[in-house]
Amino acid sequence: MKSKIKIAASLLAADFSELSREVKMVERAGVDLLHLDIMDGHFVNNISFGPGIVNSLKAKIKLPFDTHLMIENPERYIREFARAGSRIITFHTETARNPKELIKSIRKLGCSPGIALNPKTPVSQVRPFLKEVDLILVMTVNPGFGGQKFIPATLAKLRELKRILSKKNLKFDLEVDGGINRETAKMAVSAGANILVVGTYLFQSKKMKKRIKELRCGG
Ligand code: DX5
Ligand code: ZN
Repeated sequence: MKSKIKIAASLLAADFSELSREVKMVERAGVDLLHLDIMDGHFVNNISFGPGIVNSLKAKIKLPFDTHLMIENPERYIREFARAGSRIITFHTETARNPKELIKSIRKLGCSPGIALNPKTPVSQVRPFLKEVDLILVMTVNPGFGGQKFIPATLAKLRELKRILSKKNLKFDLEVDGGINRETAKMAVSAGANILVVGTYLFQSKKMKKRIKELRCGG
């Protein structure tokens, strides 16, 4: 049986002056997760928002929080993001001093651990941790900003991860993030992705429900 495609709405594309309204809107439209892009101005050239804002959204919706840390020293902040209501905490393999320990700490906090890979980072960097994580996030743009163009070369990495997943009978989700729209969703899903992060394509639309349905059907 084909497993269900999940949609994670990326808050980065929302109107920040109306966050409460925006998150309620995507929840009503039927997304599965709220994707929270945490940027520190060091690992990426942008600053977004921190645990205080995430925490304040907790009371507004029931959607699980999918927290994507694009920060240096992720070890230092996981506790706060867990307290702020994160269900999934994903860190970049490029930032972790000891990925295995960090994965364990995230789990101890009651969250699902994930690892993200930049477009240029090879699968070999996460291979030793594939048994320990619940999710691998393949960046399909260079992290830092919403509204960028999908990088097709990242599809090969998705296929490689999907092959390992099936061959070794592993359980992690395969999430893609950046430049996802109807066409690129189709490509990502056929390469093995089962969670699609969608920012601009969703928030810019007046027909969110329709877009979600199309994306979920693999375009
Ligand atoms: C980029 C972020 C993405 C981004 C996706 O660094 O990780 O989550 O917000 O936005 P779109 O869908 O607009 O590319
Ligand atoms: Zn993201």
